[in-house]
Amino acid sequence: MQNFVFYNPVRMVFGSGSVASLAELVPEGPVLLVYGTGSIRRNGTYERVLGALSGRRVLEFGGIRPNPPYEKLVEGVAMARAEGVAFLLAVGGGSVIDGAKFIAAAVPFEGDPWDLPGRRLTPRSALPLGTVLTLPATGSEMNNIAVISRDSTREKFGFSGDVMFPRFSILDPDLTLSLPSRQIRNGVVDAFVHVIEQYMTYPVNTPLQDRQAEAILLTLMEEGPKTLADPGDRDARANVMWCAANALNGSLKCGTVADFATHRIGHDLTALYGLEHAESLGSLMLALWQHERQRKGEKLAQYASRVLGARETSRETLVDRAIGETRTFFESLGMPTRLTDFGVDPEDAARQLGNRCRQRGATYGEHDDIGPEEIAQLMRLCG
Ligand code: NZQ
Ligand code: ZN
Repeated sequence: MQNFVFYNPVRMVFGSGSVASLAELVPEGPVLLVYGTGSIRRNGTYERVLGALSGRRVLEFGGIRPNPPYEKLVEGVAMARAEGVAFLLAVGGGSVIDGAKFIAAAVPFEGDPWDLPGRRLTPRSALPLGTVLTLPATGSEMNNIAVISRDSTREKFGFSGDVMFPRFSILDPDLTLSLPSRQIRNGVVDAFVHVIEQYMTYPVNTPLQDRQAEAILLTLMEEGPKTLADPGDRDARANVMWCAANALNGSLKCGTVADFATHRIGHDLTALYGLEHAESLGSLMLALWQHERQRKGEKLAQYASRVLGARETSRETLVDRAIGETRTFFESLGMPTRLTDFGVDPEDAARQLGNRCRQRGATYGEHDDIGPEEIAQLMRLCG
């Protein structure tokens, strides 16, 4: 096991009716309610939140769309500064929560706020924030990461810092009942890939973390399809919600070797071709497994045996099963697993993403050797 520091201060308030606890959790002072493009108004969450905050001075900053754009968020920064906001309350999915984290960090930041994501700076101070989660997927409710897009340059970058941990997150599965199946699908795939990125590298003797990861993968494979098959199954929704939070709260990464190539490269697929976040991940993760099938072979075989229940002994057969059956799982959720399914030409993606990687001088993967040439190969493998 490698050395590690684990820190996670987020108070998680889980269950039906838990929005009411906002009354005690939100501190005194002007609150900025941050939300998206209207789902919380349509499904009644907005009224519930305002009801719990009655008597407070609540300002509103709505209209944050998926892949929260910097150009919009700077309006929120100006508003929070002008109004002397004391606390941010994000009500929505990952985009709203990440948008609120960015605003929180940008308010006290002296300099160009784009540098936070653009240069991956670690903010040293931020306004305090809390969240009410309406879409289980990203894990943003329980981590210190924000992923911000910039429309004008078609870029999308993540940055992190402990000052961006929410003070609390409210997870009420009832608030997810209005989710369309497309977003449920996205959430299951996103959480699945988060787990994989902290697991599918090479063994460094972390049996507990491996089994924690496998437990989340197995649970997502059981509960995700149940949620899609029966949208009223609240237990399944609750289980998916807790899986997604645990998939990216820092615990799985403790002492392990991680490979976030799928996410880092996937952000460019979103920025350049408009794929939704989870849509950018499935085909890429499977292509990465194929490309790295030797170096990831031991963990791919472990996954095939322990998660998929494969009984074969040949490494090659187990790796083939890992790739094939995971593709089948994603497709059973309704997630396409080829770039061409999204109208993206793999040759064009090979050229564009390869060029971007070259310009940035970036390398990815657990061996830090996935560069422009390898990205081009991955795009072709995504097919
Ligand atoms: O705009 P609103 O009204 O919020 O509607 C959203 C949006 O249209 C809708 N929605 C949310 N809750 C709903 C609902 N519709 C009906 N009923 C509900 N209860 O769903 C749509 C998608 O919302 P979004 O917040 O964009 O989805 P998600 O939670 O998947 O977040 C994606 C963003 O998070 C980033 C992604 O890159 C992307 O920008 N990520 C953040 C991470 C983090 N902070 O740790 C890690 C992730 O890997 C990811 O990169
Ligand atoms: Zn993700």
